[in-house]
Amino acid sequence: MTKAIYPGSFDPVTLGHLDIIKRAASIFDEITVSVLVNQGKSPLFSVQERVNILKEVTKDIPNVKVDSFDGLLVDHARKSGADVVIRGLRAITDFEYELQLAQTNRKLCSSVDTVFLTTNLEYAYLSSSTVKEVASYGGDISKFVPEVVADAVYSKLKANK
Ligand code: PNS
Repeated sequence: MTKAIYPGSFDPVTLGHLDIIKRAASIFDEITVSVLVNQGKSPLFSVQERVNILKEVTKDIPNVKVDSFDGLLVDHARKSGADVVIRGLRAITDFEYELQLAQTNRKLCSSVDTVFLTTNLEYAYLSSSTVKEVASYGGDISKFVPEVVADAVYSKLKANK
């Protein structure tokens, strides 16, 4: 059984992330989507909120689990029994950072490999930051995120005002 882990900030999860999750779920036996507890960033959603949103949007994919982690990704992968880390590549601009991350992780733990899935061209421009920026100016984010996520983003931005 090949277990894979798909780590990220997911603040919020976009249709691009969801596309990667669905495709990874059709390749690997089990996918764990892992939300990073990142003290360095000031996210829109708490870790628990992001976990709950991810659980909601992946509820129909039977081999997908959602959790969170603090610390090194390779330690979390090892504890979860995952041999593979999934990352999405949108464009060449992602490549340098992703290569550095993958090489560092492999140096830290040689049994954990990174598999890159190229983002569907339809979502190649998309990022969580763009979604938050468009929503913060009252723009329509319904083409970028699932409906439940759009509602959560607008509510959160309203509550933060
Ligand atoms: O969605 P993101 O913010 O691009 O995801 C980045 C993530 C979570 C994959 C990366 O920051 C990470 O793995 N952080 C955990 C700390 C770690 O293991 N770093 C790798 C050594 S540099």
